[in-house]
Amino acid sequence: MTEVDTDLMKKLVSLCKRLGFVYQSGEIYGGLQSSWDYGPLGVELKKNIENSWWDFTVRTRTNVVGMDSAIITHPDVWKASGHLSHFHDPMVDCLQCKSRFRQDHVEGDVCPECGGELTEPREFGLMLKTQMGALENDSATVYLRPETCQPIFVNFKNVVNALRLRLPFGIAQMGKAFRNEITARNFIFRSREFEQMEMEFFCLPEESGTWFTYWLEERMAWYTDRLGILRDNLRFREHDDSELAHYADGCTDIEYRFPFATDGWGELEGVANRTDFDLTAHMEQSGQDLSFQNQVENTKIVPYVIETSGGLGRTLLAVLLDAYREEEIEGRTRVVLGLHRDLAPIKAAILPLSKKLSENAAKVEELLRPHFPVRFDVTGSIGKRYRRMDEAGTPYCITYDFESLEDNSVTIRERDSLGQVRVPIDSLVNEMTKLLRDGWPAENPGT
Ligand code: GAP
Repeated sequence: MTEVDTDLMKKLVSLCKRLGFVYQSGEIYGGLQSSWDYGPLGVELKKNIENSWWDFTVRTRTNVVGMDSAIITHPDVWKASGHLSHFHDPMVDCLQCKSRFRQDHVEGDVCPECGGELTEPREFGLMLKTQMGALENDSATVYLRPETCQPIFVNFKNVVNALRLRLPFGIAQMGKAFRNEITARNFIFRSREFEQMEMEFFCLPEESGTWFTYWLEERMAWYTDRLGILRDNLRFREHDDSELAHYADGCTDIEYRFPFATDGWGELEGVANRTDFDLTAHMEQSGQDLSFQNQVENTKIVPYVIETSGGLGRTLLAVLLDAYREEEIEGRTRVVLGLHRDLAPIKAAILPLSKKLSENAAKVEELLRPHFPVRFDVTGSIGKRYRRMDEAGTPYCITYDFESLEDNSVTIRERDSLGQVRVPIDSLVNEMTKLLRDGWPAENPGT
């Protein structure tokens, strides 16, 4: 996708529902606005992105560790972080049609929907709260975390002590976050319940500039090299001073060319220098010493923090938009999700050419199933079945034909080049493992 395509979102939302990627939550009851459920293909894609992020951020590094905190958090966490006092949006209501808008999303002073009169702006708290325990009073009020990073700061000392970490090091976590967004919209781009992938990298204050640049480049590399998103559809955008969050000394977003964004670009992730703001704030609120013993100089310091903070839903949407393409082949439109093979929910489909071959072909599925997600499909013509798999982003289709009964071989067909190779069933697991690791070799035939 290189140009803004107004139909693209409609087509993608429809494909997501039809194939089982994303559904509106509570659909049979009329749907819960801006709440989304992931179907069988969506959950696989989501897990593949999560695993890729965890692998890239934590597992392959010696200086980053992970954690997984509770969603329901102590109210003092949000007092210290500044969310209770700062995490508000000014909103206006239309007196006529009752629509509600963020003030900064309205041009002029009338309702953008009906031209009606608007109320004065009022502050609208963005945190979702609930009651814990049997009593409904203020002391039982707790919050669903609006970001995953604060529990990392709160557990800073626990993690440092457990692993005897030395600067610089990172602590990462991914998981649900909740915000009572006034204008949640654009499919899964902005919702009230979403998932974040965050990493807080603690370092010496004088090294924070170097680490900021390092992580910015690393994060971009993840989107392009690991997820296969086209570099031309991504950009860096530095925040100016008026945009900076209260805790940040500098922030650069990684943006994707979303088709619905008014200036063509929407935020995927922010990389920020949060200085020592959070640890200092939690020290003041809790009375606990969260400073760090700097072994080199034998002094106590409060480290600076470089944060990388991305959204899983937005990444999944960018991956789908980037992968979606339509091709004209022999007078027919072929819809393809050109997903990176690491992300594809189904890695291979086993397709018997005729129903009569189902029993033998099922044995091929049984052979592959322990190694990677596969799908057996026998309904409809072979052409229709190929098209279903192309739309689902399946990189390889394995056809079992009448010749397979004789030569004990099958044909592997690749989604993008439409190239085919004949492979003995005995070596199919090895062959497929290689193809899923390295991709389709250039010397293999294509069309
Ligand atoms: N800890 C910093 C932080 O939370 P943020 O810019 O508010 O910063 C980080 O959020 C990322 O989380 C965003 O870049 C976006 O990808 C995702 N995100 C934030 N609000 C979201 C929402 N309402 N729906 C979906 N994703 C959201």
